[in-house]
Amino acid sequence: MGNCWGTGTPDKTSISRSATRPSMSSPGTSTTGTTSKGSSSQFSRSSGGFSSSMEEVFPDGKILPTPNLRIFSFTELKTATRNFRPDVVLGEGGFGKVYKGWIDEKTHGHAKSGSGKVIAVKKLNSESLQGLEEWQSEVNFLGRLSHPNLVKLLGYCWEDKELLLAYEFMTRGSLENHLFRRGAAYQPLSWSIRLKIALGAARGLAFLHTSEKQVIYRDFKASNILLDSDYNAKISDFGLAKNGPLGSESHVTTRVMGTYGYAAPEYVATGHLYVKSDVYGFGVVLLEMLSGQRALDPNRPSGQHNLVEWAKPLLSERRKLARLMDPRLEGQYPSKGAFRAAQLTLKCIASEPKNRPSMKEVVVTLEQVQAIGDKPIESKTKSARPINHQQRPHHPMTNRSPFQPKLNGVGGGARAQQLPPGLR
Ligand SMILES: Nc1ncnc2c1ncn2[C@@H]1O[C@H](COP(=O)(O)OP(=O)(O)OP(=O)(O)O)[C@@H](O)[C@H]1O
Ligand SMILES: [Mg+2]
Repeated sequence: MGNCWGTGTPDKTSISRSATRPSMSSPGTSTTGTTSKGSSSQFSRSSGGFSSSMEEVFPDGKILPTPNLRIFSFTELKTATRNFRPDVVLGEGGFGKVYKGWIDEKTHGHAKSGSGKVIAVKKLNSESLQGLEEWQSEVNFLGRLSHPNLVKLLGYCWEDKELLLAYEFMTRGSLENHLFRRGAAYQPLSWSIRLKIALGAARGLAFLHTSEKQVIYRDFKASNILLDSDYNAKISDFGLAKNGPLGSESHVTTRVMGTYGYAAPEYVATGHLYVKSDVYGFGVVLLEMLSGQRALDPNRPSGQHNLVEWAKPLLSERRKLARLMDPRLEGQYPSKGAFRAAQLTLKCIASEPKNRPSMKEVVVTLEQVQAIGDKPIESKTKSARPINHQQRPHHPMTNRSPFQPKLNGVGGGARAQQLPPGLR
């Protein structure tokens, strides 16, 4: 998670808080240099269980007028997570640790061990540099968004210095873990499951981009795609989300924040953020899904550290593509479908934003790829082996690329905050 408030400094004066009912402003948006604040939105505290609007499913998505979230007490979440016990840690990012918790479905008090509704609780690390602003952005964006491919934010806690978020629990964790971790819990994803995940995530992004108030997500990466038990993909982490450009403007101008390897080149170079900057990030994830390789990996041989640079020539030629495909697929994919997916990836990672497809077009193309099926038609693909794929050990609790820098050496340090000038 992370947050950015345009070119100016965060406007903390717009935030007021009380122990139980904070009032917050919507995240500000700076449109090509002019800063404008969004309208203020109040939280409404739901009285017993979760409000009906949060429980309702909107198949085509919906933006609620105000965040409608449950306010948890710190004690409730502490109890739900067994006192934030290390053995219920699900993962850790730049914001802090994420814990599994159990709450009683009806009263939303804590449930007995192993029973009740399972939730994921993200707890701000006191040393985290991503903090209040990001937390606020998450609540204001995700708290109002409802779509089958966006993770559901159930509620939050803000007591003294404690900032926590409670989400629906996503049984299979992040796509990043499935692509890059090894072990019994992470069996290789089949071609059809990869496509299902790509389509779900694409639909989530398409919803954000086409909603009445365009939302630019800004942090699309494999660790932010979470999977339920059926491998339905849901996008999480709206700490960096921004409203899209207003009127005839093509982009918003912001401080450059994001994650190395996924951020679009025009954004890194100029701070100009387009809706199509998200499409670039999507293309990088698609490439990771095709290749089973991380966007950035200094452990690969020189010349291959940056996946996009290394893969571009392989994506554009059908006969070279097999060298790039993930060996964990064991050739079990249709070469026609893989080539179409590769062509789509190339378009998404085009240098110029205007040459990238819209997310709606991405969804249509992925549906066509899905219709091709999952059987390898040409036997050639079976024997194909990629070059020099390395397997690397992973820290048991963290899941970041070895290239993702730690922030001043604190916290999980998942994300490059301000990409250094050297990259510009
Ligand atoms: N709702 C959830 N259900 C199940 N697991 C989750 C949930 N949210 C997060 N996780 C797990 O916790 C891990 C850490 O998530 P988190 O969003 O804090 O960090 P990250 O995505 O790795 O990095 P960043 O801080 O850049 O977002 C995820 O990779 C995932 O494994
Ligand atoms: Mg995340």
